[in-house]
Order: sequence, then C-alpha cells, then structure tokens
Amino acid sequence: MSNPELVPGLAGIPAAESSISFIDGQAGVLEYRGYKIEDLSANSTYEEVAWLLLYGELPTADELSAFEADLGRLRELPEALVKMIQAMPATAHPMQALQASLAGLGMVSPKTNLRDAASKDEACRRVIACTPVLVAAFERVRAGKDYVAPKAELSTAANFLWCLDGESPDDVAVRTLDCALILHAEHTMNASTFACRVVASTENDPYTSCSGAVGALFGPLHGGANERVLKQLATIGSVDEVEAWYDAKSANKQKVMGFGHRVYKTKDPRANNLQTLATELFQTLGSTPKYDLALKLEEVVTARLGDRGIYPNVDFFSGLVYEKLGLDTDVFTPIFAMARVAGYCAHYLEQHLDNKLFRPGQIYAGQRDRALPRS
Ligand code: SDX
Repeated sequence: MSNPELVPGLAGIPAAESSISFIDGQAGVLEYRGYKIEDLSANSTYEEVAWLLLYGELPTADELSAFEADLGRLRELPEALVKMIQAMPATAHPMQALQASLAGLGMVSPKTNLRDAASKDEACRRVIACTPVLVAAFERVRAGKDYVAPKAELSTAANFLWCLDGESPDDVAVRTLDCALILHAEHTMNASTFACRVVASTENDPYTSCSGAVGALFGPLHGGANERVLKQLATIGSVDEVEAWYDAKSANKQKVMGFGHRVYKTKDPRANNLQTLATELFQTLGSTPKYDLALKLEEVVTARLGDRGIYPNVDFFSGLVYEKLGLDTDVFTPIFAMARVAGYCAHYLEQHLDNKLFRPGQIYAGQRDRALPRS
C-alpha cells in the first residue's frame, strides 16, 4: 500500500459503513434511519427513537409497549451500585461519576455473552434504561440527598426528573426533556461514538464500550461544550458588550463554545430545534436575559465567521433549555450522554455485525536504530 497522507483527526475519513444516521453538513440535514430529526422530535418519543436506532424501524404499538416495560424492569439499580455511587467524592464532575457508574453497571450486571444476540441486546437495553438513573443518583449524592429509586411506569424523561427531585415531574418539563433527548440521541461517527466502536471492536460489552464513549463525550470540544456555553454567556455583561467580548476572544485565538462543527457548515438543525424548544419554554415559564445575549452572540459570530462555515451547533441553545428546567450546569453533558447511549448502543450492535478490530496506522516521525550511550 502506498504511504497514505496523514489526515489530522481522521477528518472525513470513513471509519465504518453505517445505516444508523445520515448528515448533510452543507444543507443542515440530520436523519435517523432515514427519518428527518424535525419529524421525529415533533412526533415521536425518546423510547420510539431508541427502538428505531437499535432495530432500524419505528416500533409497532405492541413492540413499543413491550420495550417500555422492559426498560422499566431494567431501570432498577442493584444496591451494590447505589452504594458505589454514594461512595463517590461529591467534588467529582458528574461526567466522571457517569463514566465510573457505567463501568460499575457492568460489574453488577449479568456477564454479557458476546456470542449471543439476546444477551447483547439486553445489556444495551440496560444501559439505555439505567443511564438516566445513574445521572440522577449522583446528582442527589453530591447534594447530600438520599437515593430515589426509579418508577417502572414512568418514561425515560419523566423518570430522570422523578429520580432527580423525588417529585412528580411537570408535563411541560417532561415533554421538553423528551424532545431534547431525541435531538441528542445519535449523530453518525462523532468522537464519542467512534470511541464506543473502537472499544466494541475489541470484543467488549456495551457497559465498557459506553463508558469509554462517555469519557470522550466529556471533553469541551465535544459534549462538554454545552456546559461551557452557559458559563461563557455568564461572562458577557449585557447585549451591548457582546461584540467587544467576541473581539477579545478572537484576538486571543480562543474558540467560542457552541459554534462550529466538523461536519455542519451551516446552522446545526438541532440548534434550530432546540432554539424553538427554548422559545416555547420561555413563553410558558418566562424568558431569560441569557437568551438575548445568545441571540446577539449568534448574530456577531455568524457575521464574522459564517463565510467559513461556523454557525451555532447543538450545544449552543441546549443549556438555556436545561437551565430553565432548573438543572445544574455541569449536568448538561450527562444529559447529552443519557440521550446518546441509544446511538452508542446502535453503533455497538452494528459494529458486531461484521466486526474488525480498529487498529489505524501512523506515519513514524521519530529516530531509528539508535545505539545506547556507553556506560
Ligand atoms: C458536538 O462530531 C459531532 O457530531 C459532535 C456533535 C455530536 O452530536 O456528537 O455534534 C456534538 O461535539 C458539537 C461541537 C461542540 N463543540 C464546541 O462547540 C466547541 C467549539 N467548537 C470548536 O472547537 C470546533 O468548531 C469543533 C471542534 C467543533 C470543530 O472544529 P474542526 O472541524 O476540528 O475545525 P478546527 O478546530 O480545525 O477549526 C477550523 C478553523 C480554525 O481557525 P484557523 O486556525 O484555521 O484560523 O475554524 C476556527 C478555528 O479556530 N473555529 C472557530 C470555532 N470553531 C472553529 N473559531 C472560533 N470559534 C469556534 N467555535
């Protein structure tokens, strides 16, 4: 094979053939199994979308109710795992706690038989069912509160809010969160999904593969951006100060969180959906000055960088939605993770359909055949 050119970050290099989701970065299109994200977020539930991602078709009514019942059954955390989460330092970042908790879920769950499709499927369903409970459990632990067990009859979104607050969740909050989970569920070969597939390719189980993926998602260039968007908006005093704030960032060659994307060179369609979700929420619960700052920042950044394909991405408006729901800023990325585990599991199963261990090459730039210094 001729010596291939190095492609930094493997940008645009296909790592797999996949049927799970499709992006047109120029047109701003995102489809899950051929269905547009706008249609799914307006007309489906997270559970329907999780089934679609895992199995390729929307569920029948019977399939959906059986799937929901299964998720309800699998959601209960074994006591040993609750104790493990209660032993975690309250100062840990929730994404660190989640990465450890997913590995812990693997410790307390039946060993996955990688030669048995039903065993892998059950493990994937357990990851999807338990991840929101793991996130809520650590949130309560670090606040010094008791663990709240999930309710089998609640949906994923409703259960998360129940396990977080121990109160029956508000319908508007449940529908808003359900929609946000759909929008974050899957996104082709992003860094954390690629990490999931690399771990899966070594013949690992879904717990270990998703734990590795959560580690990748934590980074500020990836899923960690949503938390930083809110923090960056908080450093801008008023709408009148946005331009000067941006100029200072730009002068220091600092990136603006929530903007830019390796694939989208127009506004991320999910940013459009989340912006609509935010405005609907603000009509019900009242707006926030940070939204006005966000709109001005979008205007300034796209005026300066739009011609280079830099526009708002999925992380730019999501935090405004979560903050209005009363969620802590550093739990925004775990919420991203508890949605994305459906995509991770779909890619895990797809990787195993025709698995080949990931082992890329390198272009060696070091020295050769050196002699040890004479002692
Ligand atoms: C997610 O891949 C996915 O699908 C991810 C995701 C998913 O659903 O899984 O969509 C979720 O991770 C969204 C992205 C969240 N991250 C951020 O918001 C962090 C800020 N964004 C940037 O770090 C950046 O845009 C990336 C990392 C997202 C993408 O960058 P690329 O494609 O690697 O491009 P690059 O970093 O090489 O930048 C190219 C140029 C540079 O300028 P020059 O050095 O060539 O002069 O564009 C500039 C960059 O400085 N640039 C930005 C910018 N993003 C790129 N300048 C200012 N602000 C930004 N946000």
